[in-house]
Amino acid sequence: MSNYEFIMKLALERGFYFPSCEIYADAPAGFWEYGPRGVSIKNKFIDLWRKELVRRDSMMEIDGSQIMSKSVFVASGHIGNFTDPIIKCKKCNSTFRADRYISEKTGENVSERALDEEISQLITKYELKCQNCDGDFGDVTRFNMMFRVGIGPAAEEAYLRPETCQTIFVDFARVFKTMRGKLPLGIAQIGKSFRNEIAPRQSLLRLREFYQAEIEVFCNPSKLDDLPRFEQVKNTVLNIYEERETVTQVKAGEAVQEGILPNRLVGYYLSLLNEFYSKTGIDMKRTRFRRLSDTEKAFYASIAFDFEVETSIGWLELVACNYRSDYDLKGHSATSKQNLEVIDPLDQSKVLPHVFELSMGIDRSLYTILEHSYFQDFEHDNRIVLKLKPYLAPVSVGVLPLMNKDGLAEKAEGIFADLKQDFDTFLDVSGSIGRRYRRLEEIGTPFAVTIDKITMQNDTVTIRDRDSMQQKRIPVSELSNFFHCALQDSK
Ligand code: GLY
Repeated sequence: MSNYEFIMKLALERGFYFPSCEIYADAPAGFWEYGPRGVSIKNKFIDLWRKELVRRDSMMEIDGSQIMSKSVFVASGHIGNFTDPIIKCKKCNSTFRADRYISEKTGENVSERALDEEISQLITKYELKCQNCDGDFGDVTRFNMMFRVGIGPAAEEAYLRPETCQTIFVDFARVFKTMRGKLPLGIAQIGKSFRNEIAPRQSLLRLREFYQAEIEVFCNPSKLDDLPRFEQVKNTVLNIYEERETVTQVKAGEAVQEGILPNRLVGYYLSLLNEFYSKTGIDMKRTRFRRLSDTEKAFYASIAFDFEVETSIGWLELVACNYRSDYDLKGHSATSKQNLEVIDPLDQSKVLPHVFELSMGIDRSLYTILEHSYFQDFEHDNRIVLKLKPYLAPVSVGVLPLMNKDGLAEKAEGIFADLKQDFDTFLDVSGSIGRRYRRLEEIGTPFAVTIDKITMQNDTVTIRDRDSMQQKRIPVSELSNFFHCALQDSK
């Protein structure tokens, strides 16, 4: 089994995630649910994002609507440009995403933004036929990936947002004014986005409904190098990968000086992102910021870096870091006829801000954290351990009575009741102690408290460390303090 398959098995069996509507035969692909363990790790990941990015940089967070008016997407360009090329078999009507189909069948690297004409030429060149019936393909056409909805009895045209940031752009002027904003200002949002993917696949990795954590930094384009707080991060080492060459390991300060990064603002936010991910437990040696070529960038981006992480199924894009210039505010200003310029309080100049964004995929990030934490311990019964950072583990403390007699279970229940007020705690009374440790290790629980006969004599318990499997004995009265310190220290 590949590591992807191991994680899938663990996710299904231990309540991390599973397919949506799975009891029905017509369950659509590309929709997945988080179970209790998945929700817990997701919430902790989001807490870390808030701490390391939103609070650290004094950003403002909003929570906007998922359904937005047609005008929003006329202005944003999604009605016209948010499309994938498709090919349809003339015989059996099977439909495929054209660029992917050609890449899979020929090994040719076809850009997502290849022109329809280029795609047609490749189909002819390779004499590609339908994989289901060997039929011929019709012309390349375009499929808009937004989900259209009808509002009210008149079914007024609207769309589920394909990126959360459109609410940020639409709300920008009000937030800036009411919160007395100063440029550069980061506005952040966690929420769901929706894309009608032609071929959703690989569980959390290509979903039709997914979580984004987006940050849009509004800035004055004439002051992109005027950022005193860049000093805090100038020594952060970034892995930068350009034009399919080797990865350059470079400090943020040098990357800006040498023109590898375009300005200090971009250098600053890439560094914050790098520092955030280094706290998630992802192996940072297997990460890179890949600069996208003109043919790879999204239609709204003028400069783009993808933060990518290597996994068992290849390099995954976790964050799109796009310099969107004034593309969005200009579009919304023109379509809504509202002036979205603001006064930069530092010099009283009027400016239509530019935007640099960090658009994070939460689901993919969680998958990657699970895969990079997955460990098979061949020296100890092939035990499976998720070596998660303790503060991200869905359960922080397991409480296990050694036996279900002599009052041990009742004592364990009392300890569990106390600890669960402050920590994600799980009481497990059934099965052999070895099996119960294994179950906790598989969900990454960093600590297990064991109640034994000695507990009944002197009110002490053992605490077992997930990774070293070492145990130490401490008084029950010190447990809460111990876990507070241990979880804090691991940050
Ligand atoms: N906001 C950029 C993206 O969703 O990819």
